[in-house]
Amino acid sequence: MTIPLPFITPEEAITALRAGEVVAIPTETVYGLAANIHSDQAINKIFSLKNRPHTHPLIIHIANLEEITHYAKYIPPYAKRLMQAFWPGPLTFILPKTERVSDLVTGGQETVAIRLPAHPLTRYLISAVGHPLAAPSANKFGHLSPTRPEHVEAEFHSQVRIVDGGICTVGIESTIVDATHPEHYVILREGHISKAQLHAITHSLATLRDTPLIERAVSGRLKKHYAPRKKLFIFNNVAELKTILTTHSNICVLHLGPPCSQARINIVMPTDPTQYAKALYHQLRVADQSNCEVIALEAPPQDPAWLAIHDRLTKASAL
Ligand code: TXA
Ligand code: MG
Repeated sequence: MTIPLPFITPEEAITALRAGEVVAIPTETVYGLAANIHSDQAINKIFSLKNRPHTHPLIIHIANLEEITHYAKYIPPYAKRLMQAFWPGPLTFILPKTERVSDLVTGGQETVAIRLPAHPLTRYLISAVGHPLAAPSANKFGHLSPTRPEHVEAEFHSQVRIVDGGICTVGIESTIVDATHPEHYVILREGHISKAQLHAITHSLATLRDTPLIERAVSGRLKKHYAPRKKLFIFNNVAELKTILTTHSNICVLHLGPPCSQARINIVMPTDPTQYAKALYHQLRVADQSNCEVIALEAPPQDPAWLAIHDRLTKASAL
């Protein structure tokens, strides 16, 4: 089968990953820039392709739960419960690492981020390569994560080969929990798996804290991240939208309620948080590529179901 470059078949990807090359692969959250964790050359290439500082460590992706003991030295009982409940899926654990995980992957930290993804193609690729795949989101550092194969192509052009796994069903990055303490844990990055869902599983085993025990290098914790290139304004009501329109006439509006008659482009956003998350990065990319000067996005409801989306929007619109 021949498909146009930069797209490659899963079989070609397996060969490339085994040979220590970097390949963009689908997951259910966002596309990842993947490398075999045992290839220092490929891991270094991930950082240089993304322009990512080496102090921002990578998530390693495994294909089966049993493999985790090779890479995590200790797994608290509450974390095991969470794995049983939410893996395979969009949940990442920070755990003490074993010596099989190199300092290059963890940015010199004694902990490693591990996830068992749900996308069948991701798991097939990991199993076939025979080693975990380190994969950050397949975008330049600080930019919007890719949720479609063409987004990866727009980020890296012909520099990276891509396995097409369709549109990501979750659409925002995994929830990250710091599970290094035996009885307390912290959410480092909000995601599709909510605080309430985590708490429901762990309440008898551990305390879910609001602040980290140790400040960790999580790019999701940077003030500005997940951002389009154009200026992004968030408006809460018509009065705030009008204020934006007084200084910017050529705007693209992403709305939940009625469209804006003065906008050059209107994009309607889904009113359900799950569908919204799936659409968000794609619509921000569409707005970013338009000939509008700025983007104005209507704030979603202040409700726990929208927490991860509010987190991304706050960072995407930060100065
Ligand atoms: O959904 C996802 O998590 C996607 C897909 C591809 O799996 N990956 C992803 O990776 O979002 P990335 O690199 O864009 O974000 C991973 C975050 C970074 O903010 C990184 O700093 C943090 O995880 N991280 C990785 N290892 C860590 C560690 N040992 N301690 C603390 N934070 C860590
Ligand atoms: Mg990222």
